[in-house]
Amino acid sequence: MNILAVESSCDETAVAIVADGRKVLADCIASQVALHRVYGGVVPEIASRQHMEAIYALAEQALEQAALRREDIDAVSVTYAPGLIGAVLVGVNFAKAAALALGKPLIPVHHIRGHIAANYLAFPELVPPFLCLIVSGGHTLIVDVQDYTKMEILGTTLDDAAGECFDKVARVLGMPYPGGAALDSAASQGDEKKYSLPRAKPGENPLDMSFSGLKTAALNLIHHAEQIGEPLDVNSLCAGFSAAVSDMLCPRVQQALRNTGRKRLAIAGGVAANSRIRRDMTSMAEKMGVSLYMPPLSLCGDNGAMIGAQAFYEFQAGHTAGMELNAYATKSILGERL
Ligand code: KG4
Ligand code: ZN
Repeated sequence: MNILAVESSCDETAVAIVADGRKVLADCIASQVALHRVYGGVVPEIASRQHMEAIYALAEQALEQAALRREDIDAVSVTYAPGLIGAVLVGVNFAKAAALALGKPLIPVHHIRGHIAANYLAFPELVPPFLCLIVSGGHTLIVDVQDYTKMEILGTTLDDAAGECFDKVARVLGMPYPGGAALDSAASQGDEKKYSLPRAKPGENPLDMSFSGLKTAALNLIHHAEQIGEPLDVNSLCAGFSAAVSDMLCPRVQQALRNTGRKRLAIAGGVAANSRIRRDMTSMAEKMGVSLYMPPLSLCGDNGAMIGAQAFYEFQAGHTAGMELNAYATKSILGERL
């Protein structure tokens, strides 16, 4: 089954074609990052306009890359939530029009379910159940993936997402948006013990997480150094910050593995590209005798293929939509309104 997949929830317009949820036939992305960089973050209106300008040509490009004709497409899928509402709407309207014109089913896909499904593309042998840590610009979740479309949220951030904090700290350090990757590479040159940063223990659920205190502490440290004219060891601050984020994630994932007895762990989302997190997850998984699935960096960030992968399983579960499909800025991974 060839699924045309559309992703436009943030600052990447992406169209892919995926066969049977596992094989990428085309994967086309138009990144807007350079346009937003001058503003230090995503400007929603610019994002929507750029999606509109890019999406049609990307779909044509995807067909060409896959060497398929329009008639060879069996269904159209799209990220319908969550994201910048204007941006998501562009993808949803395009996908609705494409499904209508082709006379094929329309499959709505939750963006975060798509991130999890990036693992199905990278690891053909991976099948649920497994545990998944999702760390992206907007979400931080520990999810028990019981089946392709049946999930339970075991833990979540109570405030900021990990990626948001990486980007904010990087921005204050003068790194270009989105700063997560730049902060990560600076960290590799630093001494993580040089600055002491807090590790919060939030809430009643031991698997919940919190990053806002850490973010504030890092920002205060930077501003304080500036105010007293003390030179800041940026690399060491980045190393300490990355270690603190990983220390928030790792023990909770470990506990979730113990609680559920799952023997497979996957990670997903843009922040899953972080080298410190990948290193800590690797040693934790080794110690626990758990199989670890970490998608290549190209599949960690937003892409269309991950939406096409999840769409195959949503279709099998009967999750299709009609022309009434709407876009949502927020929606739980379980499909509930927030
Ligand atoms: O999943 P994603 O592409 O978009 C959302 O759905 O949010 O995640 C983007 C986030 C950004 O915050 C970006 O700075 C972060 O992923 N990121 C990283 C790294 N690469 C990307 N954060 C830390 N270390 C990295 N190597
Ligand atoms: Zn994403």
